[in-house]
Amino acid sequence: MTQDELKKTVGWAALKYVRPGMIVGVGTGSTAAHFIDALGSVSHQIQGAVSSSEMSSAKLMSLGVPLFDLNDVDSLDVYVDGADEINVSMQMIKGGGGALTREKIIAAVAHKFICIADASKLVDVLGTFPLPVEVIPMASAWVARELVRLGGQPVYRQGVVTDNGNIILDVHNLAILDAVDLEWQINNIPGVVTVGLFARRSADVALISSEQGVKIIG
Ligand code: A5P
Repeated sequence: MTQDELKKTVGWAALKYVRPGMIVGVGTGSTAAHFIDALGSVSHQIQGAVSSSEMSSAKLMSLGVPLFDLNDVDSLDVYVDGADEINVSMQMIKGGGGALTREKIIAAVAHKFICIADASKLVDVLGTFPLPVEVIPMASAWVARELVRLGGQPVYRQGVVTDNGNIILDVHNLAILDAVDLEWQINNIPGVVTVGLFARRSADVALISSEQGVKIIG
C-alpha cells in the first residue's frame, strides 16, 4: 500500500467514533482530509463539524457538512486529527500543515482526541520532524534566539502565513525527552502563539495504519 492508501484507511477507520447527532472536531492535513471524506458520507446523520483550518472548512463545506463556530458549541465529544510524529505516550508533534494553533484549541475543548496516522509517524523519541512554532511576526528574531538557547535550530517557513496571520518557525535538531517541559518552556516565550508539541493534551486514542491493518492504541 502507498502511504496515501494507509492514510485513507485510517481516516475512514475513525468514522466508527462518530455518532448520529454529533458535532465533530476536525483536524487538518492529508490524513484528516480522508477523514473529512468519510464524514461527508454521513453528513446527513451528524449536526456538523468544528474545523481547525480554512482548508478543512472548504473541504467540509464542499461535502455538505455544516460548520459550527467553536464559540457556539458547549462541548465536543471527539476531535479527529493527524500528527507529524506520535510516541507511545500519545504525545505528538503537529503543525506540519501550519494549523497547530486552531488544532490545539479544538483539542483542548474535545473530550476525546483521536489521532489518525500511518505507522511511519510512530516514533520512540519526538523531534526528528522539525517542531513547528507559530509566532507573532514582530517577535520572530527574538523567538528564534530563544529557541537556539533551548538547543534547537529554528528555520523560518518561507512563504507561509497562518490562518491567524502569523509566521511559523520549524525547529530542527531537538531530541525531545521531556515533551511536557519543553512545551511549557516554548509556550512561555513572549511572541510565541503556539508550539506544535501536544504533550500536556496528548491523544486519548491513536489509530495507526500499516500493511497489517489498523491498530488501536489507548
Ligand atoms: C496540520 O497542521 C498538522 O498538524 C497535521 O495534523 C500533520 O501535519 C499531519 O499531516 P498529514 O496527515 O498530512 O501527514
